[in-house]
Amino acid sequence: MPPVSAEQSAGSPEARRERLKQVFAEARNCTRCPELAATRKTVVFGAGNANADLMFVGEAPGASEDEQGVPFVGRAGKLLEKLLEEIGLSRTEVFIANTLKCRPPGNRDPLPVEIENCQDYLHRQVALIEPTVICTLGNFSTKLLRGDRTGISRLHGQPEVLVLGERAVRLYPIYHPAAALYTPRMLETLREDFARLPELLALGAPEQPPPSPPPPRQEISEPLAAAVEQDDPTADQLGLF
Ligand code: URA
Repeated sequence: MPPVSAEQSAGSPEARRERLKQVFAEARNCTRCPELAATRKTVVFGAGNANADLMFVGEAPGASEDEQGVPFVGRAGKLLEKLLEEIGLSRTEVFIANTLKCRPPGNRDPLPVEIENCQDYLHRQVALIEPTVICTLGNFSTKLLRGDRTGISRLHGQPEVLVLGERAVRLYPIYHPAAALYTPRMLETLREDFARLPELLALGAPEQPPPSPPPPRQEISEPLAAAVEQDDPTADQLGLF
């Protein structure tokens, strides 16, 4: 069972975007994974439309993403953009994030403890963006969001309704574009799975579970309040979402 997000969703798109910026401000100072915090150049929080119907979740930033602070800007990203174009979408219309917000050194696989440390940011992103479809790219994000070890080769192309935190979403696992870069057959499968995205989006949001009572009011934490007051430390990356 995926963990319940601490973030309460709801609110206008503007209010949710502001809250997303606060989560970003928190994430960019994150030291939960000492090795990643010491070796990263930037925290790659995510980019795109903060009110998107469609969200992609990849694995972790690579070298180019770490340099630029933007997810999927390398070769896999170019393929993702091309596949999006083929279904009439651009990356500015969707939100793109990763399971890990920091680059694992040498592009090694994310460690279980790192996935555990970072998952709260992803769940808060989902709660605030309120996507109707979450497309998981590859094994790491698929296993994390489904809370299950079943691999992508068994699950790809099969949408399912999943309750994440307070909201039901349509989860749609597909192959990671990096895996399709060198394997023409996988690219073909990825393209076929991509082609089903428009009809999935057209279904709209799945039936929602009844809302749970609001949590007790919490005071804004001091470091966060300071970050927000500092005239918005995320301003340089505001164009990201
Ligand atoms: N691969 C990913 O999973 N994420 C990125 O941001 C880039 C490559």
